[in-house]
Amino acid sequence: MSEVNIITKLHNSTKRDYQKRVIEEDKVHCSQVAYQFGKEYWDGDRKYGYGGYKYDGRWSSVAQEFINKYKLTNDSSVLDIGCGKGFLLFEIKQILPGISVMGIDISEYAIQNSKSEISHYLKVGDAREIPYKDNQFDLVISHATLHNLEIHDVTKALREISRVSRKNAWICVESYRTPEEKVNLLYWQLTCESFFSPTGWKWIFDNADYQHDYEFMFFE
Ligand SMILES: C[S@@+](CC[C@H](N)C(=O)[O-])C[C@H]1O[C@@H](n2cnc3c(N)ncnc32)[C@H](O)[C@@H]1O
Repeated sequence: MSEVNIITKLHNSTKRDYQKRVIEEDKVHCSQVAYQFGKEYWDGDRKYGYGGYKYDGRWSSVAQEFINKYKLTNDSSVLDIGCGKGFLLFEIKQILPGISVMGIDISEYAIQNSKSEISHYLKVGDAREIPYKDNQFDLVISHATLHNLEIHDVTKALREISRVSRKNAWICVESYRTPEEKVNLLYWQLTCESFFSPTGWKWIFDNADYQHDYEFMFFE
């Protein structure tokens, strides 16, 4: 198990007004809407989530980093848990057209509005009960998804990820290192159920026998 930083550069390139979410917006209402992971969350106002999640190629360099780090080839297989609209998988397949990619997400809206070139590889599914066989994938990825589950379900999902991976897995969850980052995270989040320091997360990983890679997203 080791910390593998792939996403932090992209995460830090987004500007976020933490205080606006709490001071100017009805945070409770926005959170209730966001929890549906429906149209408003993806393509509605920014206060409900992404604020319009359109394809813009930003995942291309991230895809290349996954390929390099995990030595993916056209013969590899990758599963993305909480794949959203499938942009990352699309980029991986652009670079390696022969690779097998699959994705699941709890959001029907995201799957229905996913990148059309790969939508047939994606389906509605739950991280807590991954609908694939033991040891089916060379790499299982889960970005910004598991912290949306309650702690007991995080454990379930981690065990499921380990079960379907025959080689590698990488997950990325929200975390904080300082009181300021903790406040920023709490101000910003809409659907987060589990937020821990890196030490807390590592305890959860151990407890779930998760022995693969991880990254933390901080709100500086
Ligand atoms: C912040 S988004 C990340 C989406 C995508 N990984 C990305 O980085 O663009 C969180 C995702 O978690 C998904 N999600 C939440 N609970 C889930 C669950 N139990 N199983 C699968 N996906 C879930 C949401 O629908 C949403 O797509």
